[in-house]
Amino acid sequence: MTTHRLEVRSRFHSYPVYIGRGLLANFGQHLKELRLGRRCAVISDSNVAPLYAEQAVSTLSQSGYQPSLIVVPAGEPSKTLSETGQICDAMIREGLDRHAFAVALGGGVIGDLAGFAAAIYYRGVPLIQIPTTVIAQCDSAIGGKTGVNTVHGKNLLGAFYPPHLVIADVDTLDSLPDREFNEGFAEVIKHGVIRDRDLLERLSGFQKEDLSAIVRRNLEIKAEIVAADEYERAGQRALLNFGHTIGHAVEQAAGYGRLLHGEAISLGMVAAARLSMEKAGLAQAEYDRILDLLKAFHLPTVLPANLSTEAIIESLARDKKFEEGNIRFVLTPRLGEAVLSEPGQVGWPDLRQAVENLR
Ligand SMILES: NC(=O)c1ccc[n+]([C@@H]2O[C@H](COP(=O)([O-])OP(=O)(O)OC[C@H]3O[C@@H](n4cnc5c(N)ncnc54)[C@H](O)[C@@H]3O)[C@@H](O)[C@H]2O)c1
Ligand SMILES: [Zn+2]
Repeated sequence: MTTHRLEVRSRFHSYPVYIGRGLLANFGQHLKELRLGRRCAVISDSNVAPLYAEQAVSTLSQSGYQPSLIVVPAGEPSKTLSETGQICDAMIREGLDRHAFAVALGGGVIGDLAGFAAAIYYRGVPLIQIPTTVIAQCDSAIGGKTGVNTVHGKNLLGAFYPPHLVIADVDTLDSLPDREFNEGFAEVIKHGVIRDRDLLERLSGFQKEDLSAIVRRNLEIKAEIVAADEYERAGQRALLNFGHTIGHAVEQAAGYGRLLHGEAISLGMVAAARLSMEKAGLAQAEYDRILDLLKAFHLPTVLPANLSTEAIIESLARDKKFEEGNIRFVLTPRLGEAVLSEPGQVGWPDLRQAVENLR
């Protein structure tokens, strides 16, 4: 089985991403070229640590590093400022100083949380991402967005903090429960919708053997977009928010942890696809295609009954993407392409209707 190497360009440094099987057991070798200090924290969650921490710790030790394992409770509710503080406190207690580095071993929650801790620890220590979910491998581990939620909204606190190395070991995806496995395909479908029709084609006949190639293609797509617009200023990177405006609001209104991130994004994409039909001329057949794909991965396309439109609208109103009250909504005119809406093109009544239509 071959290992692929991809280089992600960032303003501060480029970093390699290795994609393949069996990488976790010996990624220590890839650290040598980074000239890191000896001490490090392996930050993981209560589901992932029992499965994979031992392998990570042992390859680090064998490569001459001295790792300390820090485990946080699994799930979105851990993505908080207070958990970030506890991780940093644990690192201080372990005697890690500014020469240390951090290894984020887990899904998107650990990547965002441990990444943020690494960004602020002694004003920043090098970060290695070892993503273990489909979302994290196909999306969140690269691009440098780290951060946590507050009661006021998702990802409101954070930092751009690109990793120094990413190890995507596709074997780790084998232990994902079905719900968590499927969830990740929301972001994969998103990448296809905004950038790559062929990827959608490939997903239609999905087989587990295709995973490596799918992860690789998703990382290429994200890497291209991030290299073009790392800080989300030119509009390119904002296209990655397809389905996320309403999706984040749904995720927050449901209460973090009730709907998985990808499930909420699935709902957000249904709403965005319908708005795309109304505002950007997306063909009905292509809308249907998006819905069929989401359903094929058992992702939700209608809202849970007990979630009120009002609660979702309230969280939408707090979204940081609404610069000065201006709604910037990502639309897809045809599969494989995405655009940002013009000012005034999508308004509050449209958003309310889009949420209502999810029933
Ligand atoms: N930074 C970014 O660019 C970016 C992009 C997309 C999503 N995100 C964030 O990612 C998060 C969602 O990521 P996620 O879905 O990976 O969530 P997650 O990290 O909570 O993982 C989902 C569940 O799977 C478990 N798990 C992880 N790996 C496992 C494995 N290999 N085997 C068995 N169980 C495993 C976890 O413990 C958790 O219970 C959200 O917070 C979202 O905001 C960030
Ligand atoms: Zn997402």
